[in-house]
Amino acid sequence: MTILETFEKRLRKDPKTIVFPEGCDSRVLEASSRLLAANFLKPILLGKEEQIMDAAEEAGFNIRGASIIDPENYDRFDEMVELFTKIRGEKGMTEEKARKQLLHPNYFGTMLVKMGVVDAMLSGLTYSASDTLLPPLQILTTKPGRTIVSSCYVLDRANATGENTTLVMADCAINIDPTEDELIEICADTIICAKAFNVVPKVAFLSYSTNGSGKGESVTKMHNAAQRAKAMYPMELIEGEMQMDAAVSPNVARLKFPNSKVAGYANTFIFPDVTAGNIGYKIAARMGNFNVYGPLLLGLDGKVNGLSRGANAQEVYTMACITACGVED
Ligand SMILES: CC(C)(COP(=O)(O)OP(=O)(O)OC[C@H]1O[C@@H](n2cnc3c(N)ncnc32)[C@H](O)[C@@H]1OP(=O)(O)O)[C@@H](O)C(=O)NCCC(=O)NCCS
Repeated sequence: MTILETFEKRLRKDPKTIVFPEGCDSRVLEASSRLLAANFLKPILLGKEEQIMDAAEEAGFNIRGASIIDPENYDRFDEMVELFTKIRGEKGMTEEKARKQLLHPNYFGTMLVKMGVVDAMLSGLTYSASDTLLPPLQILTTKPGRTIVSSCYVLDRANATGENTTLVMADCAINIDPTEDELIEICADTIICAKAFNVVPKVAFLSYSTNGSGKGESVTKMHNAAQRAKAMYPMELIEGEMQMDAAVSPNVARLKFPNSKVAGYANTFIFPDVTAGNIGYKIAARMGNFNVYGPLLLGLDGKVNGLSRGANAQEVYTMACITACGVED
């Protein structure tokens, strides 16, 4: 079963709703028409009904049955303003400012998730990473017991033998320079996400050093975080610090990290910082011809994900299914 089929199957058993703040985007309209035909994930589009219907007609997509909400004429807007002001009151949010800010589709859509009007939100085709991330970070915040929201990407490809290779990489999008404690949290959440994609995680904490071969602040951070994560989650396969070659090549692993159950066979990778993570997952994806799913937000108290601006309609459809199911349940 492919990744998409796995999540579609889950939705068939437990249908959901998802809001798309970019209601007029043709990729959203195409994905919505497919979702409506599939009938297990109801799209809710934000924007002016007339504009959305015109855009759908022009692009040739049938979105009959989709709900359309115009933030400027939402019948529960006062209730939304009151709740938003309460949530952000300590940060200086007044009713007047709230009324203005909630007209931004990403704030409005995130509040629909917060109010339980929809199960999930997917945005980012026309916004920067921070425009997409800030509303969920500020409104939904972290899950109980978590201190940060982080993210991972899932990379997947079918091999010549017909088998699939699925890799999970974190944090490639949010935390710029995570601390030891934060890396442990990222590791724990990434393990949960990997399992949602039917991966049995073998986690490598990556570095430019393998098992003490090199020195430096970042090496120490990755070594300590790996050792502490191993102690905290003894049932999981976690190892580090190690270089990428030791992580994925059994021959190199035999030389550089003998006796490790992870080295040589890692499928879940924790990067030292977002620079390494973002460059690393893109190298793997582009050079290795992987399908990419993400960024998937981890540790957030609500189901929201971001889309890359280059995403196509198929990716919007797949990410909508993944987002509505959630990867941490
Ligand atoms: C995530 C990001 C947008 C936060 O933006 P920022 O300007 O640093 O935000 P701030 O530090 O001012 O924090 C804004 C709010 O988000 C919260 N926040 C920021 N990072 C957070 C995290 N990792 N987890 C949980 N909350 C977080 C803050 O607590 C703050 O909440 P508050 O308004 O209630 O005080 C920023 O870290 C970022 O740009 N990361 C890289 C994103 C990127 O470009 N990725 C590559 C492409 S995908």
